[in-house]
Amino acid sequence: MMILKNFVVFEGGDGSGTSTQLGLLQNRFNFPVSDLPPLYATWEPTDGPIGQLLRSALKGDIPLQRETLATLFAADRNEHVYAPKGIWERSKQGELVISDRYVLSSLVYQGIDCGEALPRRLNDRFPLPELLFFFDIEGERALTRMEERTVKDIYEYLDFQIQVRERYRSLLPGYAQEGVQVEIIDASQSPEAVAEEIWRVLKNLPIVRGA
Ligand code: TYD
Repeated sequence: MMILKNFVVFEGGDGSGTSTQLGLLQNRFNFPVSDLPPLYATWEPTDGPIGQLLRSALKGDIPLQRETLATLFAADRNEHVYAPKGIWERSKQGELVISDRYVLSSLVYQGIDCGEALPRRLNDRFPLPELLFFFDIEGERALTRMEERTVKDIYEYLDFQIQVRERYRSLLPGYAQEGVQVEIIDASQSPEAVAEEIWRVLKNLPIVRGA
């Protein structure tokens, strides 16, 4: 699969802090005097109709077959990437696009749920990011962080999260081999320390350097 320049992805288990970091980056890029490129911060499941359906299913409100879920994640992603003003168009036009979760989430979560073949096949038409951050944290620690959240998703329990971490770690080398810059971040650190690590890498990306 081809690599899409200017496209960056955050991946990790539940409670690994990807959304917090995307928020912190938005603050940095919105700072009025910065000479940074425009940032398009985005996430999956998306806020579109298929993403909303997925969130209801993840809460357990709508019972769906696991293969249906896998198919919906791919359909949501197809809109996310290829619809007008989507990931493809924006990154080609010189915006920095950062997505909280992408293809690897499906290969990991639906891979555990449905086996490897189906999510691979459903996701073989999406471009790869130029840079991928993996937020690495022990399942137990991540779940402790999430205890304050009242509503639990169907995947938010320890046995599953242990498998999630293992599967991420086994799939990352393949991504690096395809030419994706893979950065593993120790996500157990403070949000400030994680933000610093991310910035140290991100600032060297050609679009951010102004190259
Ligand atoms: P998450 O980023 O945790 O959203 P929120 O912070 O709003 O709860 O994502 C929701 C869940 O969706 C998470 O458990 C991972 C799961 N997921 C998949 O199983 N497959 C996918 O392809 C994607 C994008 C997410």
